[in-house]
Amino acid sequence: MAKSLVIYFSHRGENYWNGSIKNLVKGNTEIVAEMIAEAVHADLFEVERAKPYPVSYDACTKEAQEEARAKARPELVYGLESIDEYDTIFIGYPNWWGTMPMPMFAQLERLNFTGKRVAPFCTHEGSGLGKSEKDVRTVCAGAEVVKGLAIKGAEAAESAQYVIPWARAAVQD
Ligand SMILES: Cc1cc2nc3c(=O)[nH]c(=O)nc-3n(C[C@H](O)[C@H](O)[C@H](O)COP(=O)(O)O)c2cc1C
Repeated sequence: MAKSLVIYFSHRGENYWNGSIKNLVKGNTEIVAEMIAEAVHADLFEVERAKPYPVSYDACTKEAQEEARAKARPELVYGLESIDEYDTIFIGYPNWWGTMPMPMFAQLERLNFTGKRVAPFCTHEGSGLGKSEKDVRTVCAGAEVVKGLAIKGAEAAESAQYVIPWARAAVQD
């Protein structure tokens, strides 16, 4: 039977949420990642930076911007080494400065995507997927990348009507 995996990054703590700062116990992307995993019986893998980002929104955005400018590849808590057993890989992340957070690059670059199907999704506060789809195509060389899905972060919990049909279509041949 075809197997699917959701690789995601999500930042708990202070975040911009419909125009104001809110302390999120569960990240927006994490909500969508779990929704997908349940809908298509996928495994979940969370990418975590070894040194956690600051909880404060301002400090986090500053640090993330510096990292993005430097094209940094931060150390991870645990790096996934193989996706050999999976056919479809969902890749989920918040839009940070127009693309994926750098820990996602650090994780994806160490995997071999040849012959896999990749389905990118992001949560955001207005910029949609930004240039992340293009970056996913580059990093996941050799994969068939399906059209990505962008969900407004504050609407993550109410997004099942878009997320589930998109996820089911992505795992079909
Ligand atoms: C460091 C940082 C950078 C961000 N940059 C953008 C951006 O460029 N465009 C955008 O629409 N939202 C941006 N956001 C908002 C997040 O993408 C949005 O709140 C997302 O839903 C957070 O998901 P999470 O809770 O899973 O981390 C940024 C948030 C942070 C913390």
